[in-house]
Amino acid sequence: MNYENILVSAEQGIATITINRPSKLNALNKATIAELHHALNTLDLDASVRVIIMTGSGEKAFVAGADIAEFADFSVEEGAQLAAQGQELLFDFVENLRTPVIGAVNGFALGGGLELAMSCHFRVASDNAKMGLPEVSLGVIPGYGGTQRLPQLIGKGRALEMIMTAGMISAEDAYRAGLVNHVVAQAELLDFCKGIAARIMKNSPMAIGQAIKAVNANFKEGVNGFETEIKAFGKCFGTEDFKEGTTAFLEKRKAEFTGK
Ligand code: COA
Repeated sequence: MNYENILVSAEQGIATITINRPSKLNALNKATIAELHHALNTLDLDASVRVIIMTGSGEKAFVAGADIAEFADFSVEEGAQLAAQGQELLFDFVENLRTPVIGAVNGFALGGGLELAMSCHFRVASDNAKMGLPEVSLGVIPGYGGTQRLPQLIGKGRALEMIMTAGMISAEDAYRAGLVNHVVAQAELLDFCKGIAARIMKNSPMAIGQAIKAVNANFKEGVNGFETEIKAFGKCFGTEDFKEGTTAFLEKRKAEFTGK
């Protein structure tokens, strides 16, 4: 697939996906969502890629939302379909990827942009970042998982205040609320994320994938997270990574994980 709206690069096990529509503040149109799905799927299947960093191009925006121009005249059915397809192709897809995805929020993360950042396994923001779910100011609600993931991350009261006021919060406020894990200067954002990625990469990719699955199970309707954890824990014992990790510890050497 030729990418027209995103840039993908990979170096030493860390892949970076940059959403690249700066003239529209990286707003997510249908084509961008399809490209992101394709790139994420390809990178997740590539065993040499151990961490994915997702960011926006330019210094102003991560993603300023779903592309308003694209859905302004949609019907009820088209609106519901837009949300369903987007959630399946991108937002749920990112959250359930076995490869860790770090959201590097480098500016405005609004509407679908904040929803995309919240789908990532965790987030780091630059100090100029601004985050919000302004959908009710457009007469609509967040449709890419925002009503579910924002309360999960910051609690119901704070989430409802953000959603109902349609306001933006600063990176520092997002840090205090637990929406982002770190705030750093914009020039240092990607290197900082790569530093965390390097620490993640020392560990078993197989175990990390199982941990993502077990943590996500807590938030899935009708799924018992404790049971998922028990199954995933047991599964680890049948893997090469587990043999390597425990053997390396007992032999007092560094583990060399293959992800198998
Ligand atoms: N969808 C489509 N286009 C968007 C967009 C979006 N979500 N966000 C920004 N753009 C476009 C603007 O229309 C403008 O395009 P143009 O130059 O062709 O007119 C361009 O990006 C630059 O945006 P602009 O509004 O001129 O920048 P600004 O610095 O004045 O304001 C924002 C920045 C983020 C405050 C403002 O763009 C904004 O409010 N965007 C919409 C945010 C939103 O409601 N998102 C949720 C969507 S569900």
